[in-house]
Amino acid sequence: MSEGIITASYVGATILFILALGGLSNQETARRGNLYGMIGMAVALIATISGVTGNLGILIGGLVLGGTIGLILAKRVQMTEMPELVAMLHSLVGLAAVLVGFANFMDPERLSHYSGIELTIHDVETYLGILIGAVTLSGSIIAFGKLSGKIGGNPMLLPARHFLNLLLLLGSIYLCVIFVEESAAGGGTLPLLIMTGIALLFGIHMVMAIGGADMPVVVSMLNSYSGWAASATGFMLNNDLLIVTGALVGSSGAILSYIMCRAMNRKFIAVIAGGFGTTSGGGGGASVEDQGEVVEIHAPEVAALMSDAKEVMIIPGYGMAVAQAQHIVNEITKTLRSKKVNVRFGIHPVAGRMPGHMNVLLAEAKVPYDIVFEMDEINDDFPKIDVSIVIGANDIVNPSAQTDPDSPIAGMPVMEPWLGGTTVVLKRGMATGYAGVQNPLFFKENTRMLFGDARKSLDEVFKNL
Ligand code: TAP
Repeated sequence: MSEGIITASYVGATILFILALGGLSNQETARRGNLYGMIGMAVALIATISGVTGNLGILIGGLVLGGTIGLILAKRVQMTEMPELVAMLHSLVGLAAVLVGFANFMDPERLSHYSGIELTIHDVETYLGILIGAVTLSGSIIAFGKLSGKIGGNPMLLPARHFLNLLLLLGSIYLCVIFVEESAAGGGTLPLLIMTGIALLFGIHMVMAIGGADMPVVVSMLNSYSGWAASATGFMLNNDLLIVTGALVGSSGAILSYIMCRAMNRKFIAVIAGGFGTTSGGGGGASVEDQGEVVEIHAPEVAALMSDAKEVMIIPGYGMAVAQAQHIVNEITKTLRSKKVNVRFGIHPVAGRMPGHMNVLLAEAKVPYDIVFEMDEINDDFPKIDVSIVIGANDIVNPSAQTDPDSPIAGMPVMEPWLGGTTVVLKRGMATGYAGVQNPLFFKENTRMLFGDARKSLDEVFKNL
């Protein structure tokens, strides 16, 4: 392929990636957005491979090996394990940036290709690429450990940790100056290795200091870092497409982090500085505080409540994903709608374990898009709702976010079903949610608890409908 065609293909792939991001911003167009992304990636790969002059065998071998591992992982992974997979994939982007950086540095022709200011710029690119890559690598591995429960969710708060971070940052800047100086004289390996060690430590320290409740922001922040690492790799390899694609991932990850911080009422800097979400994630035991008695309800009564209602709001959470209850939810919705009940879904921005988690599940079950609403769109409607059905959700419907300033989720905007008629909560027992706090909603006068696996409970409700 000629240089011109490769450049044109890169421009085409860039446009397709931008269209992909645009498509992914809305569930109706998400499928098309994914398709644009896949075509863009195929164009990018073909154009890049056709420009390679070296050993094609190694390249294709690597592609087949990586592609096979990716395919097996994607087929095996459960929807609920997606955040862990994403964190692991980010670590690979970081690792790639580190390896490309070192390969670039060790290139025997480096000093004959570049000199003077060009060499300095090239060295700084290499240094930054390795730095961002190493932070992404170790940070993502820790995030994977925390999300999968292999590492505890409690933040590790070292004394003087901000000072320590500042010291690591200043050390990295100092080492960069030494590296650039030594590199021009044919050296520089030692400062580069020390900086890599520092960056790896920084990544570990940064994510270890973040508590369970703030992990969603960390995953999207690492997503952003992985984009910048890819962009830095693009600079090292003189690959314009990688620079642009990395920048797209980097900036969209940063915007997502900002949106999620807003959804959880957190300041981005405060999340990064760590210490929030001090309780362990992943659903702990019940709170010791006595909140009163809960009132139990059974499937036939829930079916009757729903059939008699005019307005029903369904609030899905992580438990719906665990129980894989989305299909039966759709069947119930269809039945109720045929009985002229107005059924709507209210989706909290951080419901489940990844951005858009609930939307993906509902789309998979073919719930019509036009009855699925974001929290901001429907939260004011609760006083008009007759029955709210909370399916395996906990933190996102916790009133203590508004009433208890000491709660780890204090200030997080929540859905407000208690303002409506009856709230039915489906869960297996009285365990807490991700943030590890008990939920006063369960003890409210107009709340009823339908205990059991959400899918089994909803099967029963459906039979009674
Ligand atoms: P959670 O607060 O985690 O609550 C889920 C509830 O589902 C649990 O209380 C659990 O209670 C119940 N459950 C689990 N399996 C079930 C099953 N098979 N059947 C019925 N119920 C089941 O979920 P949420 O309300 O969706 O809130 C999300 C939380 O995760 C937030 O704190 C958020 O910050 C955090 N988080 C979000 C993300 C993103 S980006 N969405 C990423 C990481 C963390 P039982 O065990 O008693 O059944």
